[in-house]
Amino acid sequence: MTGRTAVVSGGASGIGAATAALLLDRGWNVVTADLRDAGAETREPSGAVRLPVRADVTDEADLDRLARRTRDRFGRVDAVVTCAGTADNAPVREVTPARFSRTLALNLVGTFALCRLFVDDLAAARGSIVTVSSVSGLRGSPDRAAYAASKGGVVALTRQLAVELAAEPVRVNCVAPGSTLTPLVASAQGDERTRRAILDAIPLGRYAEPREIAEVIAFLAGDGAAFVTGQVWGVDGGQLADAGWKHPEAAR
Ligand SMILES: NC(=O)c1ccc[n+]([C@@H]2O[C@H](COP(=O)([O-])OP(=O)(O)OC[C@H]3O[C@@H](n4cnc5c(N)ncnc54)[C@H](O)[C@@H]3O)[C@@H](O)[C@H]2O)c1
Repeated sequence: MTGRTAVVSGGASGIGAATAALLLDRGWNVVTADLRDAGAETREPSGAVRLPVRADVTDEADLDRLARRTRDRFGRVDAVVTCAGTADNAPVREVTPARFSRTLALNLVGTFALCRLFVDDLAAARGSIVTVSSVSGLRGSPDRAAYAASKGGVVALTRQLAVELAAEPVRVNCVAPGSTLTPLVASAQGDERTRRAILDAIPLGRYAEPREIAEVIAFLAGDGAAFVTGQVWGVDGGQLADAGWKHPEAAR
């Protein structure tokens, strides 16, 4: 029952999987909570334990089971990282309220539910939460009505929880990734012309690797960020800093 423990939703793929791997390397025990996760607990070369729990973060019974299994196995929670999410991109006329609600149910309500589930554990450990928004939560772009609303909600929720839980103390921060090479991006960004248009908006001129997002999440989760709370950290190759036009000779 020793060592720090993190719960990472969406830990079976992409940014969540990279975060789980990085924290395990650094000696954190990690509970991955994912629709797709299953299988037995494993012990990593670092000595840390990975416990995969199959869980839908929108399902109350699954969340109760996740909390029980985490507490039974590790007895503490030092960090919660909310990576489970989806992108259902479509022009606004095609986004029915039902479709909009489905995206919010996972990206926003699911994030809230996971944070709420472990508030007492985090307070006891003087721990922290890292939520995952997106550049789309802070800037408009084509076809993102539901996604942008859900990710903007994650930003507001982060600030709210940071203020509300500061006295416990539980720190709450957010990363806002730009386009990152994961299965989600492969399915949501469509054709080659769209990918090129997105690349053109990234000053560093490339997509992020999941590990590059995980590095910032791990920093915010850990003691190095002990005086950081309520912040939204863009990990976006400079996209949020860009005014959106280029010198004509520099345009790709
Ligand atoms: N990839 C990007 O470019 C990018 C950019 C900005 C923000 N993000 C955000 O980062 C997060 C992770 O995205 P990713 O690109 O790694 O995606 P991904 O599809 O690779 O991984 C998402 C994981 O979440 C899991 N998941 C989905 N619904 C779930 C549910 N109801 N309960 C539990 N788990 C569930 C999936 O099974 C999957 O393993 C998402 O919130 C996404 O919006 C991604």
